[in-house]
Amino acid sequence: MQELKPILTDSYHRQHSYLRISLIERCNLRCTYCMPKNGIELSPKSNIMTSNEIFDIAKIFVKNGVTKIRLTGGEPLIRKDITEIIKNLASLPVTLSITTNAIIVDRFIEVFKKYNLKNINVSLDSLNRKKFKQITRRDYYDKVLSNIYLLIKEQYKVKVNIVLIKGFNDNEIIDFIELTKNVPIVIRFIEFMPFDGNKWNKSKLVSYQEILDIVGLHYKNEDVKRIQDAPNDTSKNYKITGYKGTFSVISSVTNPFCDSCNRLRLTANGQLKNCLFSATESDLLTAFREGKNIEPIIAKAIGAKFKVRGGMNTFKKLEDTTLHSKNRNMITIGG
Ligand code: GTP
Ligand code: 5AD
Ligand code: SF4
Repeated sequence: MQELKPILTDSYHRQHSYLRISLIERCNLRCTYCMPKNGIELSPKSNIMTSNEIFDIAKIFVKNGVTKIRLTGGEPLIRKDITEIIKNLASLPVTLSITTNAIIVDRFIEVFKKYNLKNINVSLDSLNRKKFKQITRRDYYDKVLSNIYLLIKEQYKVKVNIVLIKGFNDNEIIDFIELTKNVPIVIRFIEFMPFDGNKWNKSKLVSYQEILDIVGLHYKNEDVKRIQDAPNDTSKNYKITGYKGTFSVISSVTNPFCDSCNRLRLTANGQLKNCLFSATESDLLTAFREGKNIEPIIAKAIGAKFKVRGGMNTFKKLEDTTLHSKNRNMITIGG
């Protein structure tokens, strides 16, 4: 394995071996918590990284010690040259993963298998068709569900991401956990996070503690087992005794996990974000196109990383909408 070079270590000694690459700003869904109501202004096409640029920039990160790459979007699978991008990145010594809404996963199963894509995470916020349509503004519930089952049949370890919104889908927590009874699936409840244009407020948040309370009311205490988290995991993991799958909570708002952060983000238009919540970005693509060495830019960006949530280290700051608009909207970050 490639040794991690100092440029990927920040001032809190965190080692950034996980690069999330957003491939596209567009999506075939319109999730209300992710995409602002009036859509977004897309970057000009010429500002979006080409597949060769993605490969060449990724190689620089890998040379410096990145061992895991996750492809995100928008929806990464709707990018026309996605197969070529996967093929290129699969030739690097990394674990290659993807986060998708699964609508067109069936078209890519053979590509995933061929290039050994691991860890396929799927967003699905409701098990109710009507609610799915309400939150995504599109009618693809059946497609998503059948593709999740297709992935499981093909032996993929599927993690299902559910952004919980108070009064909307918090009454489905047990239904989701019950899916783990017979299916080896990982259900991950995500605390709703604030981003530009997503109308976040505290009253919409379903906290880690509230989720555990709901679980505690339904299952016997001794049947709810806290299980080992993977290194650098974003989630706190649990299992119901005897169930095939597991469930977790991603508690970025009430219990951030920034101490063990190993993540960097490269946006589709080639900007490096040192944190999901960072208000600043470093332009790698322009420098790369000018033939410059981008390593000093990467080192500087990582050196400037805040200890917690891009500097939004208090609840008060998280609630400050002027700070939300300093960051991007989620669709162009990619989670
Ligand atoms: P694994 O590779 O399975 O660990 O996946 P992941 O959790 O890194 O990726 P995924 O794209 O499935 O993200 C799931 C949720 O976790 C999304 O809501 C992300 O926004 C959130 N998330 C991912 N990375 C980070 C992070 O670095 N910080 C915070 N606060 N949240 C994150
Ligand atoms: N808060 C928490 N998670 C979010 N995601 C998108 N927007 C938000 C938000 N505001 C999740 C999606 C997807 C992952 C990449 O990020 O559900 O699964
Ligand atoms: Fe890392 Fe920022 Fe996420 Fe914290 S909020 S885990 S520092 S990316």
